[in-house]
Amino acid sequence: MIRTPPAFSWLCNFLMMINICSTLILLPLLSLQAAAAGQSCLSHERSLLLQLNNTLTFDLDPRPWDRSTDCCTWDGVRCEEGRVVGLDLSDKSIIGGMTDNSSLFQFQYLKTLDLSLNNFSTPMPSSFGNLTSLTHLNLADSGFVGQIPIELSRLTNLVTLDFTTTLLIVFPRSPLLKVHQSNWSMSFQNLTKLEELHLDFVDMSAAGKEWGRVFSSSLPNLRVLTMTGCSLSGPIHHSLRNLHSLSSLCLDGNPLSSPVPRFIANFPRLTSLILSNCGLYGAFPQEIFRVPSLEYVDVSFNPLLQGSFPEFPQNNSLQYLELSNTSFSGRIPTSINNLANLSTLDLSKSRFNGSVPNFMLTKLVYLDLSANKFTGLIPSSLFKAASLERIDLSDNEFHGQLPDFPNVSPSLLQYLYLGGNNLEGPIPMSIFELKNLSYLSLPFNNLNGTIQLESTPFQ
Ligand SMILES: *[C@@H]1O[C@H](CO)[C@@H](O)[C@H](O)[C@H]1NC(C)=O
Ligand SMILES: *[C@@H]1O[C@H](CO)[C@@H](O)[C@H](O)[C@H]1NC(C)=O
Ligand SMILES: *[C@@H]1O[C@H](CO)[C@@H](O)[C@H](O)[C@H]1NC(C)=O
Ligand SMILES: *[C@@H]1O[C@H](CO)[C@@H](O)[C@H](O)[C@H]1NC(C)=O
Ligand SMILES: *[C@@H]1O[C@H](CO)[C@@H](O)[C@H](O)[C@H]1NC(C)=O
Ligand SMILES: *[C@@H]1O[C@H](CO)[C@@H](O)[C@H](O)[C@H]1NC(C)=O
Ligand SMILES: *[C@@H]1O[C@H](CO)[C@@H](O)[C@H](O)[C@H]1NC(C)=O
Ligand SMILES: *[C@@H]1O[C@H](CO)[C@@H](O)[C@H](O)[C@H]1NC(C)=O
Ligand SMILES: *[C@@H]1O[C@H](CO)[C@@H](O)[C@H](O)[C@H]1NC(C)=O
Ligand SMILES: *[C@@H]1O[C@H](CO)[C@@H](O)[C@H](O)[C@H]1NC(C)=O
Ligand SMILES: *[C@@H]1O[C@H](CO)[C@@H](O)[C@H](O)[C@H]1NC(C)=O
Ligand SMILES: *[C@@H]1O[C@H](CO)[C@@H](O)[C@H](O)[C@H]1NC(C)=O
Repeated sequence: MIRTPPAFSWLCNFLMMINICSTLILLPLLSLQAAAAGQSCLSHERSLLLQLNNTLTFDLDPRPWDRSTDCCTWDGVRCEEGRVVGLDLSDKSIIGGMTDNSSLFQFQYLKTLDLSLNNFSTPMPSSFGNLTSLTHLNLADSGFVGQIPIELSRLTNLVTLDFTTTLLIVFPRSPLLKVHQSNWSMSFQNLTKLEELHLDFVDMSAAGKEWGRVFSSSLPNLRVLTMTGCSLSGPIHHSLRNLHSLSSLCLDGNPLSSPVPRFIANFPRLTSLILSNCGLYGAFPQEIFRVPSLEYVDVSFNPLLQGSFPEFPQNNSLQYLELSNTSFSGRIPTSINNLANLSTLDLSKSRFNGSVPNFMLTKLVYLDLSANKFTGLIPSSLFKAASLERIDLSDNEFHGQLPDFPNVSPSLLQYLYLGGNNLEGPIPMSIFELKNLSYLSLPFNNLNGTIQLESTPFQ
């Protein structure tokens, strides 16, 4: 089904969760304010709401709206001056009843609409184009199928738009949303205020390699662009350089077959760059690692992508660095210790070599250097770090003795994989005092000595 390795979808989904959560937190607050201001619902709006409720089909009956109360206080309804301006029907197990003539499309003052996490199972009505006041439209996992209508282009006030279809992961045969087959670019053409666009798992094959040119010329204010698994073609168009506000770019799981353009290093607000499993090749521009705002980099599962680390500057924001299954090579510079906020470093299955510097990274939780050509001794600092929960150094050329764990009590280490090296000598007893250790793997080394099983936590 999906070629994207789980970790990357996880990250993109995590970034989306942050968006969803912030909306969820905002909406109840706003409706409380509306109630406090004593805004009573206009009767026209009230009857539209009841009409809408009557036409929708629910799988499980929702908590009923109390007809004796002001409709502006109803669950999911937000008003301004008695008019419905926000409607949150997310996760209400709606399974049908959304037709082109639905009363939903008569809420002409509607600014925010959330229909996510339902299963409408019908084509997306073109009447969505009537909701011209909308600034935020969330149709993530709403179950609409078929083409995204061209009428979307009338929603020229949109700031955020979410069409993500992650249910695909659970139901791989679910029908897809897709961009309009012949005139896909028209749907997005006039959405010039758009800042956040999520199209994950929408079939965009009709967009060919034009997506970059179209989005960069039509959507100049884009901050967040996520298009995981959209069947996009490459190369990455050079006009994307014009999206100066871009902070998140997630294109993982698309067959881009492209080099990574150097201009990505010039986005002044870039925080997330997720390009895993894109068939990238050529040399990864080192400047990207030095972008001061950058927090998440994932270019893993691009076996032909080459590159090496620069000297890392101070005050770098990197937290998550994922280069697994690439052709990155060379050493890890000592300046990696400038990445004070680094929590995940995954360089596995690549071509790094040389000895590993002493890590002084107090926030490092996840370290995977497996299946490279690292040599030398295992740096003793690794076994001193209290923050680390996972260390995988397996299948390298480390030699010498295992260092001791000098302070076992604060250690959170759960996974320790050191197999497939040239380690020798005794296994330090302190390993068996690590309270949280649940996986220990040391095969294919020359370790010897004795261990006292009764003193271990592995019983
Ligand atoms: C909305 O529809 C549901 C299910 O059809 C029903 O149980 C509920 O009472 C309706 N609410 C109102 C306010 O009409
Ligand atoms: C949408 O707008 C068109 C043109 O303004 C109008 O004819 C149509 O009735 C509207 N649809 C709905 C469902 O309100
Ligand atoms: C809305 O359209 C559906 C079919 O698309 C039809 O069955 C229904 O009668 C229409 N309702 C109104 C009020 O026009
Ligand atoms: C959505 O509904 C369709 C048909 O009504 C059903 O086949 C499908 O399994 C449902 N999907 C989910 C995610 O519940
Ligand atoms: C698509 O665009 C072509 C020309 O580019 C036009 O002739 C056609 O009417 C458009 N189709 C729709 C559905 O707008
Ligand atoms: C976009 O806006 C322009 C100017 O308002 C208009 O001429 C054009 O028809 C619109 N395009 C679409 C696809 O709605
Ligand atoms: C490396 O990534 C490629 C492309 O996604 C994949 O086909 C291959 O199985 C991966 N190799 C390993 C060892 O994970
Ligand atoms: C890093 O940040 C600190 C505090 O914000 C500042 O004092 C220092 O000059 C910065 N260092 C560099 C190399 O930018
Ligand atoms: C590191 O993280 C802390 C806390 O999250 C934050 O205050 C600080 O600015 C970050 N440092 C850098 C260089 O991004
Ligand atoms: C690391 O690999 C590079 C080639 O990628 C080679 O030039 C260098 O000598 C190697 N260094 C070590 C210490 O093996
Ligand atoms: C480590 O173990 C302690 C109890 O032994 C437990 O409370 C804690 O949650 C564990 N920490 C982690 C990160 O698993
Ligand atoms: C363990 O191996 C080392 C050489 O690698 C050897 O000097 C030592 O005597 C061995 N110890 C035991 C207990 O076998």
